[in-house]
Parts: sequence; structure tokens; C-alpha cells
Amino acid sequence: MRLQRTYGCGNINRENIGEKVVLAGWVQGRRDHGGLLFVDLRDRSGLVQLVFDQERQGALFTEAEKLRSEYVLAVRGTVIARSPETLNLKLATGEVEISVEDMELLNSARVPPFYIEDGIDTDENLRLRYRYLDLRRPEMQEMLLLRHRLLMATRRCLDERGFWEIDTPMLTRSTPEGARDYLVPSRVSPGYFYALPQSPQLFKQLLMVGGVERYFQITRCFRDEDLRADRQPEFTQIDMELSFCSRDEIITEVEALLSDLLQSILGQKLETPLPAISYEEAMERYGSDKPDTRYGMELRDISEIAGECNFKVFNQVISSGGAVKGINVQGQGNFSRKELDDLTTLVQSWGTGGLAWMIVTEDGFKTPIAKYFAGEQLDSLRKHMDGQSGDLLLFVADEKVNTQKILGQLRVHLARQLDLVPEGEHHFLWVLDFPLFIYDQEEKRYTSNHHPFTAPCDEDIPLLQTDPLKVRSLAYDLVYNGVEIAGGSIRIHDKEMQETVFKLLGLAQEELDEKFGFLLEAFKYGAPPHGGIAFGLDRLLMLMGGRKSIRDVIPFPKTAAGSCLLTGAPAPVSPGQLKDLHIYTVSRK
Ligand code: AMO
Ligand code: AMP
Repeated sequence: MRLQRTYGCGNINRENIGEKVVLAGWVQGRRDHGGLLFVDLRDRSGLVQLVFDQERQGALFTEAEKLRSEYVLAVRGTVIARSPETLNLKLATGEVEISVEDMELLNSARVPPFYIEDGIDTDENLRLRYRYLDLRRPEMQEMLLLRHRLLMATRRCLDERGFWEIDTPMLTRSTPEGARDYLVPSRVSPGYFYALPQSPQLFKQLLMVGGVERYFQITRCFRDEDLRADRQPEFTQIDMELSFCSRDEIITEVEALLSDLLQSILGQKLETPLPAISYEEAMERYGSDKPDTRYGMELRDISEIAGECNFKVFNQVISSGGAVKGINVQGQGNFSRKELDDLTTLVQSWGTGGLAWMIVTEDGFKTPIAKYFAGEQLDSLRKHMDGQSGDLLLFVADEKVNTQKILGQLRVHLARQLDLVPEGEHHFLWVLDFPLFIYDQEEKRYTSNHHPFTAPCDEDIPLLQTDPLKVRSLAYDLVYNGVEIAGGSIRIHDKEMQETVFKLLGLAQEELDEKFGFLLEAFKYGAPPHGGIAFGLDRLLMLMGGRKSIRDVIPFPKTAAGSCLLTGAPAPVSPGQLKDLHIYTVSRK
């Protein structure tokens, strides 16, 4: 490069008027105004307007006429004030322009497959295929900067709080976080495989046995699971572990990190302590273990009234031990029959019998099921549901857990459909006291709700022998606007307790020794009480940056089918490579 850059394009302003500057960047666009040529030059700091005057700059003007979008350019020129009619106050550099005196064309460029500007309506696959062009767009640059800030602020804050950043292996054994592993074949041990870590869970616990006391790591985790808008096969965690801390102390520690991040990155103050509710309460009130508390529409239980009325659907469910619950969709009594039928079909597709509805009117209810209720039952129902004239009440009758789940889903669906979610609000909520186990109906066995290293609540320990499903754990999830952004727990640090839990999970001694022998052995050598948490950094960033998809905050994400459209991964490998790895493939789609 002959010309040496002195400023970022976006950093030039009135104060530079009269100054000679050298700028470099990409051509955003060119406008021809007869003898005047305007070229917008863009680098990561922003955009500035270059001006070429045919009369004064003859040969240079002719050169500039050849410029095309995305050509790479360096220019030297003088900063001049724009004339009043060409001011652009929306642009940071909109009061000035650069009268170009020298120009160096650094590279030409093909016509890009989409406009390099914000708000484009381009197929995401095309953006991913040309991600390096997509990343040139200001909103993507903003995302990269935000991601960088989040990484740096996390490191600074945790360092200040006495955490050591320690990296743990990527080629390791399978960790039981519940998803399928990505496996890596070993060349030197035929038929043996490493697993890429689903999380650093076991290593961070071993670090506590190793006397580290406060650990963190910003690390990649790999999980082969079905992908959604907030899930990627590889994602980044802010992983933490602490020794000699109670659950409440860890929660306080995490809140301090979160306040620091929100303050330093978004300039927002976080009111702490954050609200916390039990898993049971979350399910009762929101039908979800990750409730979005930015809006109301809480679930109300009407089982008592339902048990006494004459509506068969309700009676039968109550007499077989189920529950009837409802939500009040305030002011939405104008739903048409067709819309209500569609909602019914929707909840049926989620796996329940149907949806009962009532519209509260000035003088009673509009509903096909009024006849099954006595007058005082309807009064009581209205009171219970806090029904005002014009409200739409929706009810589901089913086995209790399913009633909660379906209404929870319906609540989220309606809030989105009816635009009830306030923009720009940040709602955090701790969910505590999860059940330690869930029962897997298909496999007919207990599985861990979080992972098998989670400690039970002290007072529930006796229930491990008698009623394991009633045992609450010392796990905690942090929910941000209805998305689980972090999860953790106090761990078991006692060998006997860990063995008890493994056995309840149906792990045979042999399997236990083989898979986790090293952990149980470590516990024999004085493991301190410990616990921790991991944030999904990409999800946190998605919410902080107000983006809809996790893919928008990951520099090089994968598609929902798990492929990288830029590099073409996953891809076949040569027969020679497979041979070295002792792998014989039988089919490939
Ligand atoms: P957990 O499995 O809950 O806990 O993961 C922690 C957080 O990671 C995020 N996350 C994901 N983000 C994007 N794509 C995915 N596929 C994905 N899966 C999880 C979520 C989640 O809250 N070892 C434990 C933590 C601990 O107990 O300390 C663990 O990994 O935001
Ligand atoms: P049916 O007796 O099946 O014709 O249902 C009468 C009304 O009750 C219809 O509006 C159904 O959608 C509704 N309904 C059916 N099953 C349920 C259920 N499990 N919970 C709530 N409403 C239901």
C-alpha cells in the first residue's frame, strides 16, 4: 500500500475541516452528478463521502468513474464542509466530505450477491454462503463488536472477582449433558473414539478437587441435537465453578457478573437480587420452567369449580386426578369462531383433547358451555379468572403436567401473535428447586433433570430411598425474557452420594467404574464442597443485542441442518483418511 491510513472513515467530522487525511475502505456506492462524482467509502468505523470534481481533478475523475461497489480503495484528500443542501444529519460524517487528491485502487471486486447494507431481505442461506460479505454489513459489524465486548468484559470482571481462566481438553471422553456426542476417531488406538465436550463439567469439578477454588472458561461446547433458533451444534459457554460456596453465594456471584455486563455493555442498571421462583411455582403460574415474565396471562387453577360443574370433559379429567386450568387473554373477546377453532386445532396438535373458551360480556358469558355451569359457579369462575367484560378465557383439562405445558405454550403463542411482548425490556428470573430426577416413560427409568452431578436438597435426601421423584435438587436456571441463558447447581462432592445417584439412574457398577471411575476416585482424596454454572454466551448475546436468532450473533454459524454453507462441512473424506482411522463406512447419503 502506497498511501498510509490516518483515520477511520466514520471518524471524520467538522473538527477535521481543512485537514489532509488518508482513508481506506470499500466502495459503498457511487453517484454521478454530471461533473461531480460522489463515492461513499466504508470501513468498520463507518461511512464517509468522497467527492471528485471533473474540472479540478481531470485524470483522477476518470479513474473514479471506473469504481464499482466493494472495490477496495485508499484515498488522500482534504476534509471540506458540505454545502447546506447536501448535509446528511443521519450520518455521523454527514456534515463533511473528502475532496480527493490522490487515490490508490487496492483491489477490484465482483458484484456481490446481495447489498452490503443493513436491513436486507435476503435469503439467510445466501448470507451464510457469503458470510464474509454479510459480516461487512454495519449491523453484523456491530454484532461482532458486541461479542468482543462481552468476551472482554466477562474476562475482566471474573478476573477482578478472583476467578482463574483455565482451559480444558477438547479431545476427551463423553460427558453426560444429555445430548448425543460428536465423536473423533483415534488413529493410534483402532476402534477408539474421543468425544468433543458437551461441556467442561467433569474437568471443572476436577479443578475444584485440584484446589483452584474459582475457575472460569469461555469455551466451545459440542452437542449433536436437533437444532432450533436458539440452539447450535457448537456454541460458547461462560463456564464457572466455585468451591466452599452455598447456592445463594453462587447466585450472588452470578448476579454481580450479570450487572457488570449489562452496565458496561448496554449501560443498563440491573436491580439485584433478581427475582426467584421455584420450579413448581413456575409450572403452576406459567406452565414453563423458563417463563417469560415480560407479560401476564398467568395460569389459574379452576379444578375445584370444574369438578362441581356438569361439563363432562372437565368432570372426567378431575375425577381421574387431572387438572383444569385457564388463562385470561385480556380484552381479546373479539376472537371469531374461526380463530377459536384454529386455536383449538393448534392445542390439539400439541397433544391435548381440546380447548374450552368463554368470552366475558357485560351481563355474563358468551360460550357454548355456559349451560353446564350453575350461576354461582360462573360467578366464581369469573372471579377466579379475574374476568372483565371483553376478556377471552381459555381452558385446558388434562393430566396436570400436560395442562400446564399446553397452557404454557399457548400463553407464549398468544403473546407473540397478539404483540403483547414489550420491546426493549430485560426480565431476569431464577428458577430454583427443580426435581432431581424425571421419569423417562419410554425407557422406564429415572434420568437426571440437569446432569448426574447435581446435589439433592439436604432435607430431601431421605426421599432418595423412598420417593426419588419428590427429591428437589440444588440446581438453578437463569431465565432471560423467556430463554434459559444459564444453568448450574451445587454438586455432589461425596463419593457415596454420587454412587447412590448413579445407581438410581440405573448405571451398573461396571459402567460406573468405566465412565466415571476417575471422578469417584478423585472424590476419595478430599473434594471440597463446590458448585457452578454455565451461561450460553450466544443466547445471552442474542438477547442483549435484540436479535431473533442465535445464528445472527455467531460469526460463522451452522444451518438448522447442521451444515456450514461457507466451507461445505460436513463433507466426505478421502478413502486414505478413513483407512488411517480404521473406519469403514457402509453408506453415505
Ligand atoms: P446446560 O446444559 O444447561 O448446563 O448449558 C448451559 C447453557 O448453555 C446454553 N446452551 C446452548 N446454547 C446454544 N446451543 C445449544 N445447543 C445449547 N445448549 C445449551 C444454554 C444453557 O443454559 N455443565 C452444565 C452447567 C453447570 O452445571 O455448571 C451445562 O452445560 O443457555
Ligand atoms: P366435545 O365434548 O369433545 O365435543 O368437546 C366440547 C368442547 O370442549 C369443545 O369446545 C372442545 O374443544 C372442548 N374440549 C375438549 N377436550 C378438552 C380438553 N381436554 N380441555 C379443554 N377443553 C376441551
